[in-house]
Amino acid sequence: MLIALWWPLAASAANHGYPLQDAGTDVSNLASLQRGARNFVNYCLGCHSARYMRYSQVAEDLALTENELHDNLMFTGTRVYDPMLSSMPVEQARAWFGNAPPDLSLIVRSRSADYVYTYLKSFYDDPSRPTGANNAVLPQTAMPDVLAGLQGRQKPRYESKPDAEGNLVQHLIALEPVAPGEMTAADFDGFVRDTVTFLDYVSEPAKSQRRSLGVWVILYLLMFTAFTYFLKKEYWKDVKA
Ligand code: HEC
Repeated sequence: MLIALWWPLAASAANHGYPLQDAGTDVSNLASLQRGARNFVNYCLGCHSARYMRYSQVAEDLALTENELHDNLMFTGTRVYDPMLSSMPVEQARAWFGNAPPDLSLIVRSRSADYVYTYLKSFYDDPSRPTGANNAVLPQTAMPDVLAGLQGRQKPRYESKPDAEGNLVQHLIALEPVAPGEMTAADFDGFVRDTVTFLDYVSEPAKSQRRSLGVWVILYLLMFTAFTYFLKKEYWKDVKA
């Protein structure tokens, strides 16, 4: 009960009151992971690294052949055992954006899949920002709206609510499309879900293996419990008699 009350408060603190959407990621979905890896390389790696992940490990875990790895994920000059590093120097990025793009190796673990999913879908037009875009989940974000071409552009809808002193305060409650992108809304959701699925895997490459190990551990414990139970019965049989 206490946890149920506390949880929404904690969640809203991280995303500035903007409701998070369910990312619906599934790290055991190989096709989604493969699409996500390609999205990450084509749309994110220009600015963000995933320094704890090597191309060779991605190929192995995502069942990619060496050719698929080279054709789809690696730029010329990178080698199979290299970590996934952005070619943009951090200082350059800071100078351009005012803030360095963080390494995304652990972003899903530190923020949550739902957060990253909603963040990527919640850019909106804001001429007062240097990039021309703002974000409902991370207000004043330094990241440009790099997926606008796919998603289309959005505008914010506000609602006025009185604060503790009775003054009306504007709250951003929803985003509405103003110009279409190359993708339908459903396709764009899929694109972002795949990308976040890949980042989810990157945050914890051993997660799927661990889950299947967990099943065996529980089976072992159940068998062990049954065994102890019968052993106990066997011992006490004579005592009671
Ligand atoms: C043109 C450069 C650029 C590209 C491309 C880019 N980002 Fe970013 N990103 C940034 C910058 C700069 C920040 C720092 C934002 C801030 O601190 O306000 C950032 C921040 C983030 C954050 C952290 C948000 C937070 O709460 O701190 C996430 C998650 C993220 N980006 C994901 C992505 C993903 C996924 C892609 C690919 C679809 C991507 N970015 C593409 C520049 C970029």
